[in-house]
Amino acid sequence: MSQGLGGTERARVAILISGRGSNMVALAEAVRDGRIPNAEIAIIISDQANVGRLIKARELGLETLIIERRGRPRAEHDSEVVAALRARHIDLVCLAGYMRVLSSGFIEAYPGRILNIHPSLLPSFPGLDAQQQALDHAATSSGCTVHFVDETLDGGPIIAQRAVPVHKDDTVASLSARILEEEHQLYPEAVEMVLRCIDPLATAGQ
Ligand code: GRF
Repeated sequence: MSQGLGGTERARVAILISGRGSNMVALAEAVRDGRIPNAEIAIIISDQANVGRLIKARELGLETLIIERRGRPRAEHDSEVVAALRARHIDLVCLAGYMRVLSSGFIEAYPGRILNIHPSLLPSFPGLDAQQQALDHAATSSGCTVHFVDETLDGGPIIAQRAVPVHKDDTVASLSARILEEEHQLYPEAVEMVLRCIDPLATAGQ
């Protein structure tokens, strides 16, 4: 935690991405705009070598780091990520389109301090292609879920969810866009709520 204006404590948040990073931008903008007053974004880490995805983060004045995962065993890659998080005294880790299941070593380093967002109403449609799964099951509604990360695939305790309708003529693209709009609202709200509940004295990963 670090001291914010007025002496309030702000959690140091890390965001981990693999892809385009729109949820990362939504979180960063929410912090910038004061909608998550109890947080500061301390680092954006990408596990892909594609620097382009980090341009927006840099424009927002955020520190960025690439820790490429390609060709590396998961435990080895994760321990480098955890070392980078510890070096920055991170309190909360937000996965935002981070396409790798975390090793037990990573989860044990930040117990109850890792969040993820998933594009379905969990426990329905975990794993890859959640929107396609919703269409395949002829679901009439779907949505998004923010949950704590444990060693199960998208199976950790649920923090918040938001539903959207699935229309008969939906494609993966149209449904994904409808869900993503809700993700960008829900993730900042969930982070703000979690940080209000975390004991500021019990910071993890230090
Ligand atoms: C989102 O749909 C998120 O729910 C899922 O991966 C996608 C990431 O999108 N985990 P983005 O990289 O945040 O734009």
